Amino acid sequence: MEQKLIDEINEKTAIVDLVSEYVSLAKRGKNFMGLCPFHQEKTPSFSVSPEKNIAKCMSCGEGGSPINFLRKIKNISFEEAAETLAERAGIQIKTVKKQSDPYEKQYRLMKEVASFYQFNLLHSESGHEALAYLKTRQMTDESIHHFMLGLAPSYGQTLFNVLKDKGFAVSDMISLGVVKQADDGAYYDLFSDRIIFPITNPKGEVVGLSGRTTNPKDPVKYINSPETPIFKKGQLLYHFYEALPEIRKTKQVILYEGFFDVISSYQAGIKQGVATMGTSLTKDQAKMIASVTQSIIVSYDGDSAGIKAADHAIPILEKERLKVEVLTIPEKMDPDDFIKAYGPEKFDQLFGEYTKDAYQFRYDAYKVGKNLQNANDVKEFKQLVSQMIRNADQSIKVLYTQKLANDLGMQPADLDIMKTKPKEVIIPPKIEKIKIKSKHENAERYLIFSMLRSKDQAFKIQNMLKQTDFADHVAATIRLKIEHYYEENDALDINMFLDTLSTDQRSYMENDLLNDFHWKNKIDIASEEIKGYVDLVKEANLKRRLYYLTEKFNENEEQNQHILSEIFELQRQLKR
Ligand code: UTP
Ligand code: MN
Repeated sequence: MEQKLIDEINEKTAIVDLVSEYVSLAKRGKNFMGLCPFHQEKTPSFSVSPEKNIAKCMSCGEGGSPINFLRKIKNISFEEAAETLAERAGIQIKTVKKQSDPYEKQYRLMKEVASFYQFNLLHSESGHEALAYLKTRQMTDESIHHFMLGLAPSYGQTLFNVLKDKGFAVSDMISLGVVKQADDGAYYDLFSDRIIFPITNPKGEVVGLSGRTTNPKDPVKYINSPETPIFKKGQLLYHFYEALPEIRKTKQVILYEGFFDVISSYQAGIKQGVATMGTSLTKDQAKMIASVTQSIIVSYDGDSAGIKAADHAIPILEKERLKVEVLTIPEKMDPDDFIKAYGPEKFDQLFGEYTKDAYQFRYDAYKVGKNLQNANDVKEFKQLVSQMIRNADQSIKVLYTQKLANDLGMQPADLDIMKTKPKEVIIPPKIEKIKIKSKHENAERYLIFSMLRSKDQAFKIQNMLKQTDFADHVAATIRLKIEHYYEENDALDINMFLDTLSTDQRSYMENDLLNDFHWKNKIDIASEEIKGYVDLVKEANLKRRLYYLTEKFNENEEQNQHILSEIFELQRQLKR
């Protein structure tokens, strides 16, 4: 939606009238005051200014323009709020094919469910006990908040009643699996007396829940939402959306087995962790990961089930051209246990010391427990290894044939692995050299991405970058073209913009950007993170200049003094 239109909608909506529908207001001088609808309070701090046409809570800071107010109070998207108000004000919106998500209503219901459980954990009697349990598991308040943890009350209809009061349809509660109908015809909450872990989709909407019992005698540790139109376990990863900023920064994903592993890792400062939910890794999940990174560390439990699961996951991940490493936690622990036992620093060190490439990991795992004097064991070991290298590069084949020969005390030539059907050349899947993007290339990409998202953002970034160049000359030109484009246009028409590009610039866009997960899902990058990328680009820029000058200094004697002072200046700036 264009800024001009947004401004018009805001201007033509009287904020006092709008807020009055939700909050009772009393006049105080030029403004109106009421109880803030966004947080619990006893004395009014929600101030509405007819003059500025905005509403804002003096205490919690929530509020904003009419559109923003409506969006927050009704928990709808910005577009939806703008459209509602435009209609009220009689403003025609040239609707460019309404592209709203068909599951908007379902997301709102699930969000309500998660908020209710969250509130119940933090503010109820039984919440105390549950919080005490979480404390025994060393969960911090920050994590409880970040992971939106909740508690389902033990009484069986509380959620049902809350949702009904809010006007949600019983059929939706049932189809989303949060409420079920008993034989007596009454409706009951699916979850009762369980710690709730909300599960989001890649766009951040809550789509399902998992509930853990706090009773060690309960035979069912976790209950999950059933598969619903929006909750498909095989297509989701726990904490994926929330980990995105960290995945962008570290250019890596860590795959765990359990919720508690993700959370403990998060608390140890390793925040790019995601998890499957009790099922083995699927192709869809691997694709999801590959859409945001090129590098993954699988960190499953150190027991035999975990090792088996990793062995299963590796080829699925490799098929998506991910660079796969495996971290096996020592002493058969899971990451959560390890962190509890040895602390976050030791856990961090594991990543250096205990990660193996996917071949070495499997080779070692296959060897464990085998007696290499026993013919059956030898046969099985050999089979596993030859299967592992079947589609690998020639060099990997050679390497592992040698390792195997060594372990079996033979010459590689004595092994029949490499010699089977010598004429049949197995064509490995076309592996493009995996190019892990360097830090500033990555930064440039996300900056261009953010500039394309809005004109406003584009100018902010341009201002921050000032004269600083991008290192990649294609990216640098695209940046200039974006600037130029926005001088003449207010909103981006991507096809129109692509028309202004040369072939190599277009291919940068098409390979790097338009296929990017963030672009496809319209996920914005926070301004703090953008600033970080600007700093990276600036730093790289200074270093390049410094390098150039140092070279020049060494070969050219005459301008030495001049160059030297610039070198000092650059070094000073870099230090900052
Ligand atoms: P774990 O048993 O390792 O659970 O199962 P955990 O998360 O580490 O929990 P704690 O530490 O024992 O409390 C790994 C994952 O498998 C799924 C959950 O997603 C869990 O996080 N799972 C496990 C189920 O879905 N149902 C179950 O009954 C058990
Ligand atoms: Mn565990």
